Amino acid sequence: MTHILSAVAWPYANGPRHIGHVAGFGVPSDVFSRHMRMAGHDVLMISGTDEHGTPILVQAEQEGVSPQELADRYNRVIVEDLTSLGLSYDLFTRTTTRNHYAVVQEMFRTVHKNGYMVEKTTMGAISPSTGRTLPDRFIEGTCPICGYDGARGDQCDNCGNQLDPIDLKNPRSRINGETPKFVESNHFFLDLPAFVDALASWLETRDGWRPNVLNFSRNLLDDVRPRAMTRDIDWGIPVPLDGWENNPSKRLYVWFDAVIGYLSSSIEWARRQGTPEAWRDWWTNPDARSYYFMGKDNITFHSQIWPAELLAYDGGGSRGGEPGAFGSLQLPTEVVSSEFLNVEGQKFSSSRGVVIYVRDMLARYQPDAFRYYVAAAGPENQDVDFTWESFLSRTNDELVAGWGNLVNRTASMVAKNFGEIPSPGDVADVDRNILATTNKAFTTVGSAIEANRQRHAISEAMRTVAEVNRYVSETQPWKLKTDPERLATVLHTTTQAVSDCNTLLAPFLPHSAQDVHTTLGGSGTFAPQPRIEEVTDLDDDSREYPVITGDYSQMPSWESRPVVPGTSIAKPTPVFTKLDDSIVTEELERLREKADGA
Ligand code: MF3
Ligand code: ZN
Repeated sequence: MTHILSAVAWPYANGPRHIGHVAGFGVPSDVFSRHMRMAGHDVLMISGTDEHGTPILVQAEQEGVSPQELADRYNRVIVEDLTSLGLSYDLFTRTTTRNHYAVVQEMFRTVHKNGYMVEKTTMGAISPSTGRTLPDRFIEGTCPICGYDGARGDQCDNCGNQLDPIDLKNPRSRINGETPKFVESNHFFLDLPAFVDALASWLETRDGWRPNVLNFSRNLLDDVRPRAMTRDIDWGIPVPLDGWENNPSKRLYVWFDAVIGYLSSSIEWARRQGTPEAWRDWWTNPDARSYYFMGKDNITFHSQIWPAELLAYDGGGSRGGEPGAFGSLQLPTEVVSSEFLNVEGQKFSSSRGVVIYVRDMLARYQPDAFRYYVAAAGPENQDVDFTWESFLSRTNDELVAGWGNLVNRTASMVAKNFGEIPSPGDVADVDRNILATTNKAFTTVGSAIEANRQRHAISEAMRTVAEVNRYVSETQPWKLKTDPERLATVLHTTTQAVSDCNTLLAPFLPHSAQDVHTTLGGSGTFAPQPRIEEVTDLDDDSREYPVITGDYSQMPSWESRPVVPGTSIAKPTPVFTKLDDSIVTEELERLREKADGA
């Protein structure tokens, strides 16, 4: 048993999330966490909404509400959507809690004390017409690295590099197109060059990462410069130092604060459990493992900035230092990044109306149909295109015709012939072989999930389903009316094999796994689901917010569980819904309407 931290990227609370977002961080982290729990590990899966910085400010301005109101609005929407998708967070919180503020400020103070926050005067952008500071994201121009013209002041979405607004060629304000003026401003910089050696030796020892993530992370070390960790902005966490704390227009950089959410949410979870020190088992314990799940635009922050923040806190950079009150915090075991999901040949863009929201997907389709699509065809190692045509065929041909049909005909035959799981008679080779196959799949599928090769994992699970389907075709139980003993053996074996497949698929398809469990006469919880709980801020009685949490202790273990002869099985109702071909034209029409309306 190992302590496993499942650290899931924090979605911005600046709007509802689309299916591309949850294909990147959501489904993969949940499949992994559910499997690891079933494999007997002590998993802590945490995240929350990311509520500071310009993304929130921009949208609040557009919707004419305060940043906090905006964050409250979308935090709730996101909490509901992620819960409906069945993502089994131990705690999904937010970055505007008092607890988070305190943890972030403690991190900053210690990093500063260790000498890794360097104060410098820089050139900050202001709008010449209003005199107000122009946050990085409001500035657009040509990327100095790849020449892409739509680069933003903080980052180029084309080449993925982090930028400073002053480096952009032809900078212009995204608000009114004017050329920003650069004026002097004081900021704290994280001294990243002091961590190059430590980061390089850490990356040296990372095996099993997806090659593109590891290569990208190693290449980042070729050009490392100090990076500003404060901003000229009024929405964020105050800088906890004299002379700064009460300055309303200086705040910590949203990314300095957001990644610390992994730690603060673990602490919040422990405090809410009534075991306030329990988070340490995942953070200061060298035997614990931590896996960070995200889309590729987040890699830099997780394979460089966050480890550098941790090293700075621990005193692990070239200038030494001492860990702060949290102790020596462990670096990530693995940064698990997905590539991008596109939609019908285009990049997602909420502003251009090229978007499918999680909410709309789940209002019309089964959550497991979507989860299946992501696991089987998602952007694990390369960008992939979501098309409604492929969603239709994955759902109907694989999920409904492959797995759903096997469950259905098995339960129907058992119900009709015996009304309960029969006791087997003499077992033949063909019976032994199929159960050997399903048994072996626990190793194959399990190790693929542990290596974050989920596409391979689910294809192995579905190959096992196909083998069981073939077993049924070969043994032809419908022709065994005159040989009840053989019929009993075949149906007992089939039920056992289906039960095994259901366990194998449970991390991917938790909603239907519960239904299949019940269909096979099981009772109780088989694949637990998260729930929404309204809580009070631990350090501010006046504030309430929804969190996602859950009790996931009732999961079966990752192995075959013998089915029990005598268990009643009734005539089943189908677990999966077959989709009508017409959904493709309907959905394409909806996409067109959205784009036209945008
Ligand atoms: N909010 C960021 C995004 O959506 C992700 C933050 S991940 C975090 O790109 F861990 F740093 F919070
Ligand atoms: Zn670029």
